[in-house]
Amino acid sequence: MRIDIITVLPELLQSPFDASILKRAIEKGLVEVHFHNLRDYTTGNYKQVDDYQFGGGAGMVLMIEPIDKCISQLKTEREYDEIIYMTPDGDTLNQGMANQLSLKRNIIVLCGHYKGVDQRVRDMFITREISIGDYVLSGGELGAAVLCDAIIRLIPGVLNDETSALTDTFQDNLLAPPVYTRPADYKGEKVPSILLSGNFPEIEKWREEKALAKTKTKRPDLLK
Ligand code: ADE
Repeated sequence: MRIDIITVLPELLQSPFDASILKRAIEKGLVEVHFHNLRDYTTGNYKQVDDYQFGGGAGMVLMIEPIDKCISQLKTEREYDEIIYMTPDGDTLNQGMANQLSLKRNIIVLCGHYKGVDQRVRDMFITREISIGDYVLSGGELGAAVLCDAIIRLIPGVLNDETSALTDTFQDNLLAPPVYTRPADYKGEKVPSILLSGNFPEIEKWREEKALAKTKTKRPDLLK
């Protein structure tokens, strides 16, 4: 899979891809992530990427021309399955969307900034608009990092034990059951004895029950 991220702040995006699972996924060649600084697609001396909005009002708007140049350049190089715009008024990201997107070959992720992008960018290029939640961030970069993390960890081979993504919270509309590690007794707080029993069918049954009970209590909406 290849992900091209278009941003005015590439430095804000680098570090999540330089550590842990995402870093290893890139090193293993399971995903390529490329950053494109919108300022590299401007013409004037001032590398202007934004301007005042027509009709008046506070806040700057990302201009269409540099975005068009960047996306058009990328599209001459390969076909894209999705061109995603990160925006608080997009569809709220969930595990199902991450699953779908992890199956794509090439995607572009455009990060908004300031008041967002000229509407014509959305009309002309964008195939999907995604929000990471009902709150407003300073820009789409952190949202893009969240989206990429959710997608990349699902690519086969990225997690060491492939089944571990399958047992994640949300994967089957259930929250994950509680997990424990050593010591078995911490200041009198004991690990449930079933987990120490070695009886794997019973452990599996216990986990399913716990997952269901937790979901009923914390997120009954998931069970509908
Ligand atoms: N840009 C600003 N706020 C955002 C959000 N909640 N999700 C995605 N992109 C955003």
